[in-house]
Amino acid sequence: MAESVKRPVDLRSDTVTRPPPGMRRAMAEAEVDDDVLGKDPTVDRLERRVAELLGKDSALFFPSGTQANQTAMLLHTSPGTEAVCDSESHVFNYEVADAAWLAGVQLNPVESDHGRLTAADVVKAIRPGDRHHSRTSLVWMENTHNMHGGVVVPLASMQSVRELALERELPVHLDGARLWNASAASGTSLSDYSACADTVMVCFSKGLGCPIGSVLAGPRELIDAAWSVRKRLGGGMRQVGILAAAGLWSLDHVLPELADDHARAARLAEACRQIDGLEPVEPDTNIVMIDITIPGIDAAGLARRLEEQGVLLLTAGPTRVRAVTHFDVDDDGISRAIGGFRSALS
Ligand SMILES: Cc1ncc(COP(=O)(O)O)c(C=O)c1O
Repeated sequence: MAESVKRPVDLRSDTVTRPPPGMRRAMAEAEVDDDVLGKDPTVDRLERRVAELLGKDSALFFPSGTQANQTAMLLHTSPGTEAVCDSESHVFNYEVADAAWLAGVQLNPVESDHGRLTAADVVKAIRPGDRHHSRTSLVWMENTHNMHGGVVVPLASMQSVRELALERELPVHLDGARLWNASAASGTSLSDYSACADTVMVCFSKGLGCPIGSVLAGPRELIDAAWSVRKRLGGGMRQVGILAAAGLWSLDHVLPELADDHARAARLAEACRQIDGLEPVEPDTNIVMIDITIPGIDAAGLARRLEEQGVLLLTAGPTRVRAVTHFDVDDDGISRAIGGFRSALS
């Protein structure tokens, strides 16, 4: 294809992927039935497979990560209590205050070392349990950590949080929208990470490239109860095996390739480091945060210049942009993106 008519290199997010032909075929050929009647065989297969991968009894398919996260919030807490989370977490910043709106829960955000939440961070926020404070009802973790740049939270940190929570008899939820990436980057199994939490949410619509879909996994009684919460939230879906088929396909074809996305993110970061005025954060996975140190150029300005060069990304602060790799951006795309950065700042 001539350079001038090539699609832009789209690094806005790993949610911008277009389903590849194999995934579309799997969707078209999916065996389906009414999942609200509990009869869709493809959804059943996906739920069983995810439960097994995460080492949990049971799992439930949701349309979005937000709905699955909030179902967990509703299951673990009661109105007027608090959930402890990282101050840069998705649940605190990007779910439209839904913990307050839906569950009547106040979030108690704590600072951590770039999202690597530890017991030492969490312990400071657990309420004493007297008559003057709300009661702490939940501890919330996120891995990889999105807004800290796809940071992999080490298993040891998660285990320390889990031990503390067990001591204090608190349930733990893991927002694992990109747990796949954490596991691919660290070699730690999905089930070892999941063992640090009672419930785990994973997304198919991020690094795995599906058009839609998340799964909440956990103990059987909780996931049974999650079914009714999902229905209340309007998340009961009918012949949704069409979407579950995309998820199953992605586990076989996209999950094994995630390390390539990470290598491409590392290559982009390394190239940006060579450009005067750019300070990329070394990525753990597929998200590259790039700080701009050129006077007079802010994140929005750089994003505009890059768009003119055929490179799309999002701002992540006044002088920070965020570029995310995914299967729709190959090695050639990264070369074009690097060229775009050089031209934009030359
Ligand atoms: C860490 C994290 N959790 C949860 C979500 C919510 O997922 P959804 O957009 O499917 O509601 C996102 C979305 O980007 C996310 O990055």
